[in-house]
Amino acid sequence: MQATAKAHTNIALIKYWGKRNESLILPTNNSLSLTLDGFYTETTVHFSEYLEKDRFFLDNKKVVGVPLNRVTSFLDLVRSLAGKENLFAEIRSVNKVPTAAGFASSASGFAALAAASSRALNLNLNEQELSRLTRQGSGSACRSVYGGFAEWQQGSQLDGADSYAVQIASEDHWDVRMAALVLSAEEKDVSSREGMKRTVDTSPFFEGWVNSIPADLKTIKEGISSRDFTKVGEVTEANCLKMHATTLGATPPFTYWHHSTLLVMQAIQSMRKKGIPAYFTIDAGPNVKVLYLPEFEDIIKNELQALPGVKDVVLSRAGKGITYK
Ligand code: ADP
Ligand code: DP6
Repeated sequence: MQATAKAHTNIALIKYWGKRNESLILPTNNSLSLTLDGFYTETTVHFSEYLEKDRFFLDNKKVVGVPLNRVTSFLDLVRSLAGKENLFAEIRSVNKVPTAAGFASSASGFAALAAASSRALNLNLNEQELSRLTRQGSGSACRSVYGGFAEWQQGSQLDGADSYAVQIASEDHWDVRMAALVLSAEEKDVSSREGMKRTVDTSPFFEGWVNSIPADLKTIKEGISSRDFTKVGEVTEANCLKMHATTLGATPPFTYWHHSTLLVMQAIQSMRKKGIPAYFTIDAGPNVKVLYLPEFEDIIKNELQALPGVKDVVLSRAGKGITYK
């Protein structure tokens, strides 16, 4: 009763920011992402009759407290689907991505955990079922089941049966790339979970955010289908700015941006004025991701590395969906 799975992170181009049901993790809007081959998690889950509780090792260190509880609650779902409520597991996971720094470690982490644990208990889930299960570990993780571009359909059913991701285009459809800029690899103060809750509960800008999503999705899907980089880049950057604007209206107000985040955003906008096509997006953390085309890779890497506050630049192509060992 053991399985190992690898899942890549995904970065949303149209963001998931808001829940309509917190325990089932049901979103207030559809979102759309690009899976990256540069960042991933590999997880082995071993269920054993000899264990009296779950044990979780992340990067070879034993994990306790909230991250362990999140893993255990998620495994409870998998156990109940398999009718094996009394079987505990040892989970060993390696993150090739900084943890809790806005690089979507939770996305690759829960996608790998869902895939490995469901396979270890012989659940035989198809991609849609796996995405729906993964969603209940961490919302954005449901998109990491797929390679390339994936859309999480929010669904309308109360039990979440129709809330899962689907693939929009595979990793072979279009060679667009993403540079991840490491400005700070420290854990953030406000988790994405807490940040989106505060925004939904208190930000007067939240309604405007939700209402703007259908038009952004229509534009980005047209752009992906016709491989129109300007169209995809412009809507990606605008959508990110709208999401971050909602946090400034929350009570108490907050922002994920650091001084260096703003410097990078401005640098990217001036790169475009010089004729270098590049667009940024930012998640629940200070780090910036930059969407670009392969022919501009060298120049973009050099320009980004030279910016003040940039500790590292990791380049990534579109990545694959879940794989098993
Ligand atoms: P991030 O931006 O890295 O996704 P979050 O605060 O959204 O930050 O999520 C980080 C949390 O995700 C961690 O505290 C932990 O609970 C969970 N997580 C990260 N990696 C893994 C993993 N490999 N397996 C299980 N859970 C993980
Ligand atoms: C800003 O998926 O980490 O990265 O569902 O509470 O686990 P939970 O939240 P999470 O939020 C991700 C927010 C985001 C945008 C996105 O990935 O779509």
